[in-house]
Amino acid sequence: MSQLEDLMRPHMAGIATYHGVDPSAELARKAGIKPEDVIRLNANENPYGALDKVADALNGIDLHLYPDTQQRKLRSALAQYTNQPVERIIAGAGGDEIIDLLMRLFVERGQKVLDCEPTFGMYAFSARLADAEIVSVPRNGSWNLNIPAMINAIDESARIVFLASPNNPTGNLLTESDARALLDTGVVVCVDETYYEFAGSTLCHLLDEYENLVILRSFSKWAGIAGLRVGYAIASATLIRHLMDIKQPYNINIAGEAAVLAALAHRDELLERAGRLVEQRRRLESAIDELDGVTYYPSHANFLLCQFERLSAEQAYIKLAERGIFVRRFPQSVLDDSLRISSGTPEQTDRLIAALRIVV
Ligand SMILES: Cc1ncc(COP(=O)(O)O)c(C=O)c1O
Repeated sequence: MSQLEDLMRPHMAGIATYHGVDPSAELARKAGIKPEDVIRLNANENPYGALDKVADALNGIDLHLYPDTQQRKLRSALAQYTNQPVERIIAGAGGDEIIDLLMRLFVERGQKVLDCEPTFGMYAFSARLADAEIVSVPRNGSWNLNIPAMINAIDESARIVFLASPNNPTGNLLTESDARALLDTGVVVCVDETYYEFAGSTLCHLLDEYENLVILRSFSKWAGIAGLRVGYAIASATLIRHLMDIKQPYNINIAGEAAVLAALAHRDELLERAGRLVEQRRRLESAIDELDGVTYYPSHANFLLCQFERLSAEQAYIKLAERGIFVRRFPQSVLDDSLRISSGTPEQTDRLIAALRIVV
């Protein structure tokens, strides 16, 4: 450690960082192909991009003005979309920021944060930043929760449980009875519905019953604006008031605000595109059904977790990358034999299926 690093908070200086996706040019460079040949099926992004009407809404916005700290227009549009009162809503710079804000609000050094592996890596990363104790309770063979083990792990130092529904990367839903069992313990339960618009299933109706429930959503996937970083949480008015008090004042930038307002105004078109991505996932499932050497887990999202029988996931990853197709791998984890493949356009799905026929 250098002298400078000695001054740092030790848990930060030595942190295991979060590795996000590379830009397409970098993927192309690593695979030795042209950037225009890259098919990005590795981040569950929306391959249709933003709606033109959403992009148009960014023209002429007042870039020289600070955004509204109270997110008035945004929160009221979200209230209308979710059918929830404004007081129950906060927007964040992506769902990621909401996860971080929850840690700041609830978790002190050494306190417990629970998640259920395999799941979205940001929960554990944010917990590491908070110097929390991360308790990862493994899911069972069909990726459902081990509720007795979770309840056993919840003691007086437990603060938040993170549950994605559909879960990334396994694609399965959280059941209402499992959510209730955890909510009844009194800890904060964050139900992450980032893929809600693909699954059409929500636990929002439990908000009237549980003050400790947080529903997390995002505009990154269905609305095609991952680059603008907007997500939101729905929770009790008390919880939201405290999150509003601790957030960075101008956390949603003015372009993100304008894009979300336009996306919500044109939600039918976006939901239709989300439906097309679900259709492409189903097409991929049917194609895999016909193939030997690869299987998949049932999914409610815009991605499919696939398992390879004759070659390692790493080999499959490399063979797909050589053909310009980039998917998500999970080395050194319980999923080291699996790849997560995002839904693409029909043309991308054609190329993917053709590649899988050769590769597996
Ligand atoms: C389950 C889950 N939650 C949250 C996020 C974060 O989304 P964003 O910060 O782009 O809103 C993701 C992104 O991949 C995710 O898969």
